[in-house]
Amino acid sequence: TEGALWGARFASGPSAELARLSKSTHFDWQLAPYDIAGSKAHAKALAAGGYLTADELDGMLAALDRLLESWSDGSFVALESDEDVHGALERGLIDIAGPELGGKLRAGRSRNDQIATLIRLYLLDHARVLTTLVIRLIDAIAGQAGAHPDAAMPGRTHLQHAQPVLLSHQLLAHAWPLVRDLERLRDWSARASFSPYGSGALAGSSLGLDGELVARELGLTGPTENSIDATASRDVVAEFAFIASMIGIDLSRFAEEIILWNTREFGFVRLHDAFSTGSSIMPQKKNPDIAELARGKSGRLIGNLTGLLATLKGLPLAYNRDLQEDKEPVFDSVETLEVLLPAFTGMVTTLSFDTERMAELAPQGFSLATDVAEWLVTQKVPFREAHEISGALVSFCEQRGLELDQPTDADYQSISSTLTPGVREVLTVAGSIGSRTGAGGTAPERVAEQLIELTKRIRSV
Ligand code: ARG
Repeated sequence: TEGALWGARFASGPSAELARLSKSTHFDWQLAPYDIAGSKAHAKALAAGGYLTADELDGMLAALDRLLESWSDGSFVALESDEDVHGALERGLIDIAGPELGGKLRAGRSRNDQIATLIRLYLLDHARVLTTLVIRLIDAIAGQAGAHPDAAMPGRTHLQHAQPVLLSHQLLAHAWPLVRDLERLRDWSARASFSPYGSGALAGSSLGLDGELVARELGLTGPTENSIDATASRDVVAEFAFIASMIGIDLSRFAEEIILWNTREFGFVRLHDAFSTGSSIMPQKKNPDIAELARGKSGRLIGNLTGLLATLKGLPLAYNRDLQEDKEPVFDSVETLEVLLPAFTGMVTTLSFDTERMAELAPQGFSLATDVAEWLVTQKVPFREAHEISGALVSFCEQRGLELDQPTDADYQSISSTLTPGVREVLTVAGSIGSRTGAGGTAPERVAEQLIELTKRIRSV
């Protein structure tokens, strides 16, 4: 059959059923530019090894360029008979360069080392795209933090009021995981930047081709060390899928807070009309769909990772066709994030905060009780006892429907002689937040430093 990569030892072509199962052109077609880049590098290695003359190399490179053009303008399309993008491109090359020259390119390589290289090139490209998109989101979060330097809100543990914090501190708490995701992408890229080309089917090539040359041409650090590992492993793909899942999970946790903050009960944020949706029946509705889709799509990203890990588990070395199943999930993870991140960034950029409502709720639920206990420690009361005294004050207030600063001086004395009027100094939200000057704390000057540090860290990835 036309374009088949084998056949001499077969009495018949593939059955229609096999062809349908085996086909991957509908998803690997997008790898063509990487395949052609690999082919050009490989052609140069063939020429350097004496397998192509200088003229043949020129002809080969020109034919590959033309092939790329016709792929780009859509005139080169997959045929029914094409199993995968690699076979199709060889067919296209032979159409352009003729069987004599076109038939020389396959020397010393296999689709196994090709695909192992191409998937890295594809993912390295998209790691750069994702890096840019994640940086934009971090910038949006940092922008909101910078725009609200003094706003206080209830900080929570167990979803209960815990201690007052700055809104900017809470927002930046969603930025740091994304900074680590950027660093993960950077570290992953360094690990992924090796070229399996020249590994052949599994055992390496006998043609003495220069793997360093190919790696250099592809912008990679060097050739992989073991041809069996290079063609059989996909941990590079799985790790990428993990980073994509982690980004999804980090978005999802932020999304969940935005969804809560956007409820009538919280009333902390309003969504911009352009980044929220309505209801087909309830005219009053304005829904946080971007946040919900972020939360939902994180499940899909995790599914892509776990599916891939399950595919890899128990595969004997070296190449097995199962490995073709690495592509659809990881392509989906890339495409999902490349659509989700810009929408999420738009939502964050246009959030408006009701800082008055947040400030009003910040001290409620006795969230300054820790401040009372820590103030007592500064008065030389052992923390264990201070905790008891502050707890007794909470109980006193709770029974009488008071906030912690509302009892009289005499009431304080009746609870403990250590509760002198001086305690009132720390019974304000600003006092509480301002006192948390320890490393990474919510005091305004620490948060201002944090914002600067965040910007520096982004610049260094
Ligand atoms: N399309 C295959 C893949 O994605 C590469 C081809 C290798 N096929 C083979 N029969 N050795 O892994």
